[in-house]
Amino acid sequence: MKLLHIVGARPNFPKLAPVHRAGQRAKLSQVVVHTGQHYDDAMSDAFFRDLGIAPPDVNLAVGSDTHAAQTARIMQRLEPVLIRERPDWVIVYGDVNSTMASAIVASKLGIRVAHVEAGLRSFDRTMPEEINRIVTDRLADLLLTPSRDADEQLIAEGEPQSEIVFVGNVMIDSLFYALPAARATGFRQRLGINGSAVVVTLHRPSNVDDDHRIQTLADVLGEIALTRPVVFPAHPRTQRRLEAAGLRMERVTMLEPIGYLEMLDLVEHAFAVVTDSGGLQEETTALGVPCLTVRHNTERPITITEGTNRLVPDPADILSELQRLNRPAITPKPEGWDGGAGERVIAALISHSQ
Ligand code: UD1
Repeated sequence: MKLLHIVGARPNFPKLAPVHRAGQRAKLSQVVVHTGQHYDDAMSDAFFRDLGIAPPDVNLAVGSDTHAAQTARIMQRLEPVLIRERPDWVIVYGDVNSTMASAIVASKLGIRVAHVEAGLRSFDRTMPEEINRIVTDRLADLLLTPSRDADEQLIAEGEPQSEIVFVGNVMIDSLFYALPAARATGFRQRLGINGSAVVVTLHRPSNVDDDHRIQTLADVLGEIALTRPVVFPAHPRTQRRLEAAGLRMERVTMLEPIGYLEMLDLVEHAFAVVTDSGGLQEETTALGVPCLTVRHNTERPITITEGTNRLVPDPADILSELQRLNRPAITPKPEGWDGGAGERVIAALISHSQ
């Protein structure tokens, strides 16, 4: 059986790693295609190094562009690769443009598509990721879900039960795998952080492209930094928006994008995380670290019902929410967030190939 994995953007890489490793253990033939949606070392290559995965076999080097142009470029450049490789399965991850573009190309070539992280919904179509999730799930032949709510959602949308397999959370496989190396980085000491910090990541257009919201966020983070360390590794988009708005964030420790291990080291020891990332909502739950998600909704409700996540739609409320946070006595462990999800993905692929 031949698998062709497609990744493109930062959050895809920790999802690929455990599935690829499990595929190697099962002695399957595997090809990894990187679309090049993300291309900076810190946004891409660093993750392959940190996660111990070999560099991609093919890089489509599509780069950044508008959504339509980027999606089109991925489709055009992927098609000949799939025709040449003719895999039994194309495996796509998460909800980025590379995920949706690849699902369209593979399904039109009659190649079976498996979607890892199927069934998540924010019910907010202003998010490009929501459109990517819906299209990918409609086209996929095998829907591999991270939580039971995702199974229910797919059934409600009319997907046949036979195509849905609950596998658990592959991101958490990577987290457990990388924690010892993350602890050994000494990253916090190098930054000189004393005491438990508030770790911040913000990159969604809904937060950083809105002048009023980014100003409020900068004010609030500055206020928090009066009483405890605030560390903010900023996505390139966020850096540019902060500069354009003339926001200096003087008391906040601003960083360039950092690697996977450095981020885990920061997050594991954080007082709390303030974010709009999908993956961090899950990672904080698995680590028992309080998380404030600066969004109106989440496609990962289990991080609220069973985890440490809390939605803070209005950035002005972050400070008061932080003041009433508690670290949970017991680290949450949602079903299937156990380090074995990659193995279950491969098992599902094998059993659905017969
Ligand atoms: C993408 C995903 C988002 C994910 C995020 C994680 C989509 C629709 N969005 O958003 O779901 O949470 O990745 O990072 O797929 N840029 C660089 N260097 C890079 C990559 C991007 O400087 O290596 C800059 C470019 O100016 C680019 C901008 O960041 O225009 C946005 O990149 P893009 O991949 O379009 O979207 P993200 O905001 O990163």
